[in-house]
Amino acid sequence: MTPEKELEYRNALTMIVTAGQVILTHGGSALDAVTEAVRLLEENPLFNAGKGAVFTHNGTNELDASIMDGATLNAGAIAGVSHIRNPILAARAVMEHSNHVMFIGEGAETFARSQNIEMVEPDFYYTDARYEQLQRALLDQGVMLDHDAASLAVRNPQGDPIDPDKKFGTVGAVAIDNDGNLAAATSTGGMTNKQAGRVGDSPIIGAGCYANNRTVAVSATGTGEMFMRAVAAYDVSALMEYAGLSLEEAANRVVMEKLPAIDGRGGLIAVDSQGNVALPFNSEGMYRGVGRVGQPVEVDIYR
Ligand code: GLY
Repeated sequence: MTPEKELEYRNALTMIVTAGQVILTHGGSALDAVTEAVRLLEENPLFNAGKGAVFTHNGTNELDASIMDGATLNAGAIAGVSHIRNPILAARAVMEHSNHVMFIGEGAETFARSQNIEMVEPDFYYTDARYEQLQRALLDQGVMLDHDAASLAVRNPQGDPIDPDKKFGTVGAVAIDNDGNLAAATSTGGMTNKQAGRVGDSPIIGAGCYANNRTVAVSATGTGEMFMRAVAAYDVSALMEYAGLSLEEAANRVVMEKLPAIDGRGGLIAVDSQGNVALPFNSEGMYRGVGRVGQPVEVDIYR
C-alpha cells in the first residue's frame, strides 16, 4: 500500500459522501442522495462500477445496478449491460418510468436509450488496472475454484490499500432523509473473470439492495452468489421486523454468521429508520464513509 493511493481512495470517498450529504442538507430526498452518490462512484475509475468496472472472462464488461425506495417499496434494476455510462440512472428510470422492476442485456439498453440515458462504447469502461487484474485472474485460473476474485493469487502491483484481487468493489449508498424516507442503491461490474452472462447479487432486490421505511436500507458488496443464497439485504430487514433485532445485531448476524457459514465474503452498509448506521464486513477491509447533516464526513478502509 502506498500512502498516496490510500489518500486517493479517502479523498474520493470524502468527496462522494459529501455530495450525498449536501443533497440531504438542502432537503433533498434519500433517493436523490443515493442516486448521486452511486453515480459519482460509477464515474470514478477507482471503483468497480461504471468506468473502472472489472472484466468478464471474455474481456468484456457486463454491469448490474439496482435501486429501491423504502417509502413505496418501488424498485428498479438492470443487469448485464455493456453500453450504459451510469447503470444506476438506468435502474432508477426502470423504477420510475416502467411497469417492471428489472431489465437485462439488450432490452435494458433499449429501454435506457428510450429514456435518454447516456450510452457509451464498451471501451469507455476500460482501465489498465482492471485489464491487468483480468490477466492475473486468467493466469491463475487453474487454481481458482470458482469466479470469486477473492480466491485469486495475492499481488498488489497498483498499491491499492486493499489488494485489488481480494476486494469486491461493488459500490453502494444508503440514506435516510428529513422525511424519514429510506433508500438504497447498488452498482457493480461484478467479479473479475466472471463467466459471460453471470449475474450476481447487486441487481437482485433483497440480495444486494433493499430498502423499507419500516426497517432499514441496505446495500451489499461481496461474493454475489452467497449473498443471493442468503437473501442478505432482505434478511437484515426481516431479522429487524420479525425477530426484533437491532440494526447492529441483524447486520452482524448476516455478515458475521450467516454469510460465512456458506463461505460468503464481503460486507454491507445499512441505515435504519432511526438513523442508526451499520457497516459490517468479514473481509480484509471495505472502503466506506458516513455523512450526517451538520457533522464532518467520516471515511475508512480497514477494520
Ligand atoms: N457482489 C457483486 C457481484 O457478485 O457481482
